[in-house]
Amino acid sequence: MKTTISLIKADIGSSPGHVTVYEPLMVKAEELMQEAKDENKIIDFIVFNAGDDTELLMTHQKGVDNEEIHKLAWDIFMQLGKEAREIGLYGAGQDLLKDAFSGNIKGMGPGCAEIEIEERPAEPILVFAMDKTEPGAFNYPIFQMFANPFNTAGLIIDPKLHDGFRFSVMDIYKNQFVDLKCPEEMYDLLALIGAPGQYVVKYVDSKDTNLGRAAAVSTDKLALIAGKYVGKDDPVAIVRSQSGFPAVGEIVEAFTLGHMVSGWMRGSHRGPLMPVSLDFSQCVRFDGPPRVVGLGFQLKNGQFKGGVDLFDDPSFDLTRARVNEIAEYIRRHGPFEPSRLPLSEMEYTTLPGVLKKLQDRFHD
Ligand code: 13P
Ligand code: 13P
Ligand code: MG
Ligand code: MG
Repeated sequence: MKTTISLIKADIGSSPGHVTVYEPLMVKAEELMQEAKDENKIIDFIVFNAGDDTELLMTHQKGVDNEEIHKLAWDIFMQLGKEAREIGLYGAGQDLLKDAFSGNIKGMGPGCAEIEIEERPAEPILVFAMDKTEPGAFNYPIFQMFANPFNTAGLIIDPKLHDGFRFSVMDIYKNQFVDLKCPEEMYDLLALIGAPGQYVVKYVDSKDTNLGRAAAVSTDKLALIAGKYVGKDDPVAIVRSQSGFPAVGEIVEAFTLGHMVSGWMRGSHRGPLMPVSLDFSQCVRFDGPPRVVGLGFQLKNGQFKGGVDLFDDPSFDLTRARVNEIAEYIRRHGPFEPSRLPLSEMEYTTLPGVLKKLQDRFHD
């Protein structure tokens, strides 16, 4: 049987400011997802949060880009957004950019990562969700997992991984894709994805067609309407593991640097990415630092079994301590680059307003 895993997310409003989701609305989201499960629209689901983003993880047999599934998520987010407005949450309906659903949630504000798979007898699935950053923030860890033998030992010693993987990279300004194979085209791949503000890994596929898709990352808001770039969006990813894919431990190892990402404070600053447990999935200091949460399961007939909060583990303490130190260092730069994003990326913030005010005051 083919199973589709859909991870669809939106910021529907938060408290206080952009810190975290409002717990009663998470409960509401769970009730609405349970209704959909009772009506057999989906097989299984999990609701969680990454900072101020509500994450709807679900399984079904309807394939990717399915209208009914996307509408289900859209309707739930609309209902939550309406309640968030009544409660007075901050940025209520922030990611709900359209009034009416039109067939696919892409380009409407929410983010979406989906994979359709033929379940293996044992199918380990990991999902990751980030807050206060952009989809390109996944470039570094996805490269580590699927292409760097210093991270993923299996690329060297496991014949099932030894041929490497194929990366589908999106140019988010042109809304175009290029497929690059690793290890053969690794340097070409790095030339692109080392610039995560423009080139974003969208999919990773096994070269073994029997295994198929290995990972999917959300890039939605970036591809908004007619391919026009509209700024940053907190991303999600789905990653398959083991038996031809990286081991669970190789996948989470990719998050141990605390790598620098864009999107901290007002979407306009750089900061190190901190892997945290769900209990610490809130963005406080300077609205951050940017965070990533991870969940792992065994999937069986579309059902999530044995869920684990992946970063709820002292083996990530050193990364978190390093992130705090780097955050402290970069914060001391205040409004100076590289703490603040370069001008090219500030174009989508309120900075152009300041420049406009000064435009008549520039002189020779
Ligand atoms: P597989 O079972 O996926 O081959 O992985 C073995 C392993 O030792 C992982 O650390
Ligand atoms: P979000 O994109 O998570 O809503 O954060 C917005 C922001 O400006 C935080 O400083
Ligand atoms: Mg927000
Ligand atoms: Mg957010």
